[in-house]
Amino acid sequence: MSQLPESLLPTLPGLYYTDETVFALEQQRVFEQMWFCAVRAGDLNAPGAFRTVQVGRESVLISRNRRGELRAFLNVCRHRGARIRTEESGRALRSFQCPYHAWTYDLDGKLLAAPNLTKMPDIDRVEWGLRSVAVREWLGYVWVCLADDPPSFTDTVQHEVVERLGDLAAIDAYAVEGLELGRRIRYDVAANWKLIIENFMECYHCATIHPELTEVLPEFADGYAAQYFVGHGAEFGPDVQGFTIDGSAGHERIPGVGDDQDRRYYAITIKPQVFVNLVPDHVIVHRMFPMSPDRTVVECDWLYLPSVVESGADLDRSVELFDRVNQQDFDACERCQLGMSSRLYAEGGVLVPSEHHIAGFHDWLRGRLAEESASDEVRQ
Ligand code: FES
Ligand code: FE
Repeated sequence: MSQLPESLLPTLPGLYYTDETVFALEQQRVFEQMWFCAVRAGDLNAPGAFRTVQVGRESVLISRNRRGELRAFLNVCRHRGARIRTEESGRALRSFQCPYHAWTYDLDGKLLAAPNLTKMPDIDRVEWGLRSVAVREWLGYVWVCLADDPPSFTDTVQHEVVERLGDLAAIDAYAVEGLELGRRIRYDVAANWKLIIENFMECYHCATIHPELTEVLPEFADGYAAQYFVGHGAEFGPDVQGFTIDGSAGHERIPGVGDDQDRRYYAITIKPQVFVNLVPDHVIVHRMFPMSPDRTVVECDWLYLPSVVESGADLDRSVELFDRVNQQDFDACERCQLGMSSRLYAEGGVLVPSEHHIAGFHDWLRGRLAEESASDEVRQ
């Protein structure tokens, strides 16, 4: 690229958003190495309740054992590799049985039974059980990590929150793990996952595409995202009563939210696939599932106090604000995806000063892709 004026920084080249090889490398070195926010813990509400989730190139089976503890396994039979469960969700009563030759595993993954197993006395039932995947619960979500040696959860996931908000107490105030699911919307976005992250990180687009959001958060009209400043939450406009589509009153405030956090919106990006949005009466969590270079499924949860959900309160005006923001954002990302394969974008585009922090995300990604890991070699 020709010499850029000082106020502009380069983006990643278009290839990063379209190329299968880059995507495969991201799966190996990003999604299969880092903690991945897979399912809402409350969606697994009983022993044997399970979800299957795509993490990098793997299908992961996430469930609870008989004591209700979380367990995650590669969704692959130890015999000849058949998928154990192909449904997105369901409930196993006592065990997971492979539909091919009926190898049967208990809810801790141990091999319980198989045809003629007694004739194979040398088979260790634990050794030949389902392959476990590291699992953690935080903010009411189940996070899994496929790395042989998972990175510290504190130094990665929680560190991102500290970097954004200043400390963990700031998010603890919302007691997210105790909130209840009020609404879930799934978006199938024809765009690369990085375009969705980049878009979430900046607010240069807010004045153009988010008329409703900028009504509620007037400072967004200036183009500086809340994420630009550490610990900063964008303040509601003076006439705004709540974080709703028309600025009308929202719901009961989450008790731990202090006066300094009231009437403010905080946005956090937890790399590589989570956004957390905090407002006084609810929390919005986005989980991204990158499916291919140009397709990302985004599952978005609106979480409220259990008393609000159980009262049957009308959540529509509350949900509609961010649903509309999501659609506006994802439309923009899809519009960008169309340009990524253009010759014009072969060397990338540019970031204006209010987007310069996105260059940090690009540096981080390049760093990760350059890093070889032990499990890469095994997989080759
Ligand atoms: Fe699962 Fe044979 S492949 S039992
Ligand atoms: Fe936006």
